[in-house]
Amino acid sequence: MKKPMIQVENVSKIYRSGKLKVKALDEVDLEIFQKDFISIVGTSGAGKSTILHLIGALDKPTSGTIKVNGTDLSTLSDDELASFRKENVGFVFQFFNLIPTLTALENVAVSKMFDDNLSMSKAEEVLRKVGLAKKVDHKPNELSEGEQQRVAIASALANDPPVILADEPTGELDTENASIVVQYLHKINKELGKTVIMVTHDPSIARVSDRILRIHDGVVQADVISTGDQDSRTVDYTELVRARISEIEVTIAGLDSQFKQGIITGEEYVKQQTNLKNSVDVLREELHRMGVVN
Ligand SMILES: Nc1ncnc2c1ncn2[C@@H]1O[C@H](COP(=O)(O)OP(=O)(O)OP(=O)(O)O)[C@@H](O)[C@H]1O
Ligand SMILES: [Mg+2]
Repeated sequence: MKKPMIQVENVSKIYRSGKLKVKALDEVDLEIFQKDFISIVGTSGAGKSTILHLIGALDKPTSGTIKVNGTDLSTLSDDELASFRKENVGFVFQFFNLIPTLTALENVAVSKMFDDNLSMSKAEEVLRKVGLAKKVDHKPNELSEGEQQRVAIASALANDPPVILADEPTGELDTENASIVVQYLHKINKELGKTVIMVTHDPSIARVSDRILRIHDGVVQADVISTGDQDSRTVDYTELVRARISEIEVTIAGLDSQFKQGIITGEEYVKQQTNLKNSVDVLREELHRMGVVN
């Protein structure tokens, strides 16, 4: 029987800035089990980072309860939340978050700085787990972006937390590095038994996980569980790819009007449009590979 690791019950999050209220999450219920590898996909502003921050105790819900590893987060004081985070969650962000003047080894060690058991050998061990044994003495500018993100994953693993939360970990990477970084997240999920929750915009990245959640306007709209039943999985995945293509097409249309209104320069317009059209091509190829005629 699978053991629940994260239980989100009836959680809403309302942000207030001045008179404005934004409902970032709307009565979300969610159960994530030990050793799951989950992707969260959805449009910009859907509430993906918000749910990750709440699960990681970086922020508190407006209502509802969140239990992580058996602890109801609402019962903890701020000090207790800080130790909870240190023991239970490792974070990986889009922009690597490394200290430029420190080597890979020092960057990982520093994330354990307040731990009495800090040891360089532990830092070295986690760097080895992400395939960087030979790069421990390199500073961030002496590493590729993919390698920098792997140092960030090693830092997230340093305290040996059961849960790893990654917010668009491949957002800044080219396709090849993105695929390597996701393979390592997959590896730490399968080999180290970590529960991994990854936010991504890219359905082909999300596909590596066992379960894909699609959030829209603060509501979980689809929850695709990989059952090993290839046919039903393909149908759901196809829908996700199609949804992503539509999202990008809306963004492209928005670019047209931004350019016409003089909000963006011609150069910026061409650059962004080319990138977005390339993404649509890749996604259409993906559909084609799956035998979908569109
Ligand atoms: N600190 C904040 N104050 C006010 N509003 C916020 C705050 N953080 C997020 N929001 C709003 O809450 C909603 C959800 O934001 P969130 O960051 O979770 O989106 P996201 O799905 O991660 O988007 P993206 O893909 O662009 O990162 C958005 O409308 C956003 O503008
Ligand atoms: Mg976000």
